[in-house]
Amino acid sequence: MTEAPARLAGCCAVVTGAASGIGRATVLALAGNGARVVANDQDAEGLAETAELAAGARAAVRVVAGDAADEALVRELVATSVAAHGGLGFAFANAGIVQSLASVLDLEAGDWDALLRVNLVGTFLLVKHAARHMVEHGGGSIACTASVAALRAGAGPAHYAASKAAIVSLVQSAASQLGGRGVRVNAICPGLIETGMTRPVFELARAKGTEARLGQLNPLRRAGRAEEVAEVALFLAGEASSYVNGQAIVVDGGLSASLPFVPGRLW
Ligand SMILES: NC(=O)c1ccc[n+]([C@@H]2O[C@H](COP(=O)([O-])OP(=O)(O)OC[C@H]3O[C@@H](n4cnc5c(N)ncnc54)[C@H](O)[C@@H]3O)[C@@H](O)[C@H]2O)c1
Repeated sequence: MTEAPARLAGCCAVVTGAASGIGRATVLALAGNGARVVANDQDAEGLAETAELAAGARAAVRVVAGDAADEALVRELVATSVAAHGGLGFAFANAGIVQSLASVLDLEAGDWDALLRVNLVGTFLLVKHAARHMVEHGGGSIACTASVAALRAGAGPAHYAASKAAIVSLVQSAASQLGGRGVRVNAICPGLIETGMTRPVFELARAKGTEARLGQLNPLRRAGRAEEVAEVALFLAGEASSYVNGQAIVVDGGLSASLPFVPGRLW
């Protein structure tokens, strides 16, 4: 029996933050569906592991280690995709950090500088350079990882939440300004997902025996998996999302759909 054609055959993609969590799961999903991927992370060891995991996939994965907030590196990611894979049709600006968990009473200006540089400026740089290539070469799709923290307080420290809200705004501006040029730009807003970023929360809960409580605030009553976010990135990479543009797509089990309430006390 012949194998079904790959869903993303012919697609060339760049993914940042690909050594772990959502970025790694997305690289594996893209390559597994036939997309040729340039994977980036500043963690070279983790990035090599991602490439190893993708070794049996339908399509090739190239790695470029380095800082996704450095403009020269971002240019290199686009250039590598073009040189090694023949183009760039999907860019996933996903690298992000939380860094300090301090409240607004204690955050320092330097905390904001360091975090905004990665989460916002790095995201902007990939939007800019991917879009420059795409407008010249028949269009494409760009996705950026924001967060439910962009939409409501309570899902991260203030500088992190503000950086993610700014990504949603950036996506709207970029989708608008790139109008008529065949480039779609969307944000993905994950809820609580077990990844490198949230591992301490999960490990602490396991150690205390309270793991079952994680994710209980959302209607699905569980935390999400990186693969469940990667599926949405996969959707945005392909033609299935051809009329989806300028949106913040929430992947949070329904967490942000309701106001806080005490079950049984409303009626
Ligand atoms: N895990 C969650 O619950 C959750 C929820 C909402 C949003 N997010 C967002 O998802 C994205 C992916 O995070 P994750 O949850 O998979 O965490 P993760 O820590 O597992 O992965 C993030 C990756 O980004 C890399 N990275 C950080 N700074 C970088 C830089 N300057 N250059 C290159 N790579 C860099 C890290 O090395 C890491 O491999 C982030 O933008 C994060 O803010 C995560």
